[in-house]
Amino acid sequence: MPLTLETLQEKLKDWKGCKLAETANPVLGEGNPHAEIMFIGEAPGQREDEQKRPFVGPAGKFLDELLASIGLKREDVYISNVVKYRPPNNREPLPEEKEQCMPWLQLEISLIKPKVIVPLGRHALLHFFQKLGMTAAHGKPQKLTDEVTVFPIYHPAAALHNGGLRQALYDDFAALKKFLDERQSTPV
Ligand code: URA
Repeated sequence: MPLTLETLQEKLKDWKGCKLAETANPVLGEGNPHAEIMFIGEAPGQREDEQKRPFVGPAGKFLDELLASIGLKREDVYISNVVKYRPPNNREPLPEEKEQCMPWLQLEISLIKPKVIVPLGRHALLHFFQKLGMTAAHGKPQKLTDEVTVFPIYHPAAALHNGGLRQALYDDFAALKKFLDERQSTPV
């Protein structure tokens, strides 16, 4: 059977390689399978666990607003998470949980082949750059390979707890749009 997002979804349902699978539902990414931009969060929360879809709770609503602020809809992009199951009480994912779930994210990236990857928050940023901090890197493109740029942005949930970050998120999305527009107009 060829590996597709659908087969990945089916395989994840049977996967027991992470202890979180004992207490939560699997949540794979979703969106445009041909997306040029992929957003990666931390781990599902309560609503995501209930609906088995990423970013459908309060942080997801804010992400939808941020996407709309630069003329994008969820259907235009691909949205996923580092960890595929909700940690109990929304605690931060443990290093071993991130490690165990990593192959799923890698398979998603290899199927989508995004040109721009947006880590939302430090857990996703760490997946790509171990030495880069969000405070210094947010809103600035970071070259991953000749084909792929990583564009770190704060996690939308952070702004729900710290209102001061709201504007920083809008500004980073505006910077992302500028970067995407300039990419489009640069001849290869
Ligand atoms: N926060 C995340 O990091 N991911 C989700 O899917 C929802 C909230």
